Amino acid sequence: MDPTRRELLQAGWKVGGGMLAVAAGWTTWEALRPLADTSGGGVLQLQPVEQYTDGSATFVREGRFYLTRVQGELFALSQKCPHLGCAVPFCEASGRFECPCHGSMYNLGGEHLAGPAPRGMDRHPLQIVDGRVVVNTAVIEQGAALGSRRFGAPTGTGGCAPTDAEPERRA
Ligand code: FES
Repeated sequence: MDPTRRELLQAGWKVGGGMLAVAAGWTTWEALRPLADTSGGGVLQLQPVEQYTDGSATFVREGRFYLTRVQGELFALSQKCPHLGCAVPFCEASGRFECPCHGSMYNLGGEHLAGPAPRGMDRHPLQIVDGRVVVNTAVIEQGAALGSRRFGAPTGTGGCAPTDAEPERRA
C-alpha cells in the first residue's frame, strides 16, 4: 500500500527534527567539550605586533589560543581552561575570559579572577621576530598562581557566563 501524503509529511518532519536535534547537540558539544590538548606542536607566525592593540583579545584558531595585549605586554593564552579543560571564550561585554563550564574567570593577562580553576590560563611562549609575533604552541607554560593581579580586573559591565562565582549578578 502506498503511503498517504499525510504519512509522507509526518516522516519528513521527523527526519527534519532529528537532523536539527543532531546539529544542536553537535554544536553544543563542540562549544563545551574539554580540550584534550591545545598545543598545535608548531611555531605560528602571526601579524605585525602593532596589529594587536592594548586591551584586545584575538583568537588564533590554528593554535587554539588567544593573543592578548594588556598594559603593553603580549600573551598567548591557551584556550584550554586549567580547571577541567573546557574551551574558554573571551567575553566582549565584560572584557574577561569566562569559562562556560564552571564559571572560572580570567583577565586579559590570563590571571585568575574567580571560580574553581587552580591557576591562571596557561601560556605559550612568544617572541617578536622582524616585527611579527611568533608563538611556539609546542610549549605550554603554567598560568599565573592564584592571587596574581598584575593586570587587575576588567571594568566592563555584564558578562557571558552566569556562575556561582558571581552571585551578585543573579536577580
Ligand atoms: S573547566 Fe573551566 S571552570 Fe571548570
